[in-house]
Amino acid sequence: MKKKILIEINRNSLKLIVYKKFLPISKRFMKVAIAGSSVTKFGELWDESFYSLAEKAAKDALSASRIDPQKIDAIFVANMLSGNLLGQNHLGAQIASLLKLNCPAYTIEAACASGGLAVNLACQGIDAGTYENVLVVGAEKMTDDSTSIVTTGLMGAASQVERKAGLTFPGLYALMANAHMEKYGTTRKQLAAVAVKNHANGALNPIAQFHNKIEIEKVLKSTMVASPLTLFDCSPISDGAAAVVLSKNIKTNNVVITASQAATDQIGLSERKSITELLAAQLASQKAYKQTGLNPENIDVAEVHDCFTIAEIMAYEDLGFCKRGQGGKFIESGAPTLTGKIPVNPSGGLKACGHPVGATGIKQVIEIEEQLKGKAEKRQVKGAKIGLTHNVGGSGATAAVHILQI
Ligand code: COA
Repeated sequence: MKKKILIEINRNSLKLIVYKKFLPISKRFMKVAIAGSSVTKFGELWDESFYSLAEKAAKDALSASRIDPQKIDAIFVANMLSGNLLGQNHLGAQIASLLKLNCPAYTIEAACASGGLAVNLACQGIDAGTYENVLVVGAEKMTDDSTSIVTTGLMGAASQVERKAGLTFPGLYALMANAHMEKYGTTRKQLAAVAVKNHANGALNPIAQFHNKIEIEKVLKSTMVASPLTLFDCSPISDGAAAVVLSKNIKTNNVVITASQAATDQIGLSERKSITELLAAQLASQKAYKQTGLNPENIDVAEVHDCFTIAEIMAYEDLGFCKRGQGGKFIESGAPTLTGKIPVNPSGGLKACGHPVGATGIKQVIEIEEQLKGKAEKRQVKGAKIGLTHNVGGSGATAAVHILQI
């Protein structure tokens, strides 16, 4: 078979590549435009329903994209808990009904990585030429139920053994935190510094659940949830929705997704080789760097999955922002602050912006889009041109990583 050669000009390199039809997806350049986006406020939104939040985000993203809704080829809906908490399982059709659309609509569930995985599937569909325009909507309504009901629902993302043992997600991440502290000497104060940074960033973000700045002492002295993690080491229970319209047609000023990758690992912590790192996040990010020809030093800004402070410290290491075991020193050095070497979680992250599970991975993409367009106002990372999102499901069994460029 005759192979066509194509010259592709990447932002950082000029490369001769074999025409993408002949390459496996992990080696292709990808160019998927974010044509429109919208995110609701995150928090305890008692005057909103799951449906009103999802509908608002979807309609606003469609209107921002200026694409005729009838030209949307597919809808991907990201959600984890609607079956448990609302008794609503048929979400694809439910959202299509609200929007009065008849295109195929799919529900994507991958625990807290549902949003990232929905974006990943939409990118693949566009990249493969199956779709021209795709609407991706993520939503969750968590605060109408008690913490114990939500905690039980969230444990649906863990292994059977962990559920039967009575573990919770704060408990699982506490195991990882203790192991990291033991192995690398990571300190309690270094964990707390992640929460302090993210609350400072969240204070600058109008959609964030929390706008209060905190100090290390406050984190250390707050209520113990699962030792060593206190209340302020945990992301909260939240309501919210986010939506993007992705398109193969790139217009001037569109932010473009240039890598979309995902990976999995053993669902149970006891089955993994190590609990001080997330293999799925390493694999997804390595594939994303390879897909773009970029490396961690090229990343100007990142939104990472800080469901607990230890998760952000492991993310620095898994994404290659610092060496293995150095995540604690990395936050201590100030490198991931808004004016640091690689600003991480300018939105306030899951910790302060909030974590409505199905919406989180899509909100991360929207935050990076705003950053690259220079529209992030008080939390703007100066001169950001290349950004990364890192969205993790459960205790790390799923990870989705995206690289965005302008
Ligand atoms: N960070 C900071 N403040 C928080 C908070 C958090 N994570 N969670 C709740 N609060 C605040 C509330 O705003 C409230 O403040 P107020 O009294 O001034 O109104 C107060 O703490 C009590 O809130 P409440 O909802 O009663 O807390 P809770 O004890 O029921 O729940 C957690 C606290 C940490 C147990 C809960 O947020 C949680 O389970 N978080 C983890 C969620 C999770 O596992 N997600 C999946 C990740 S993989």
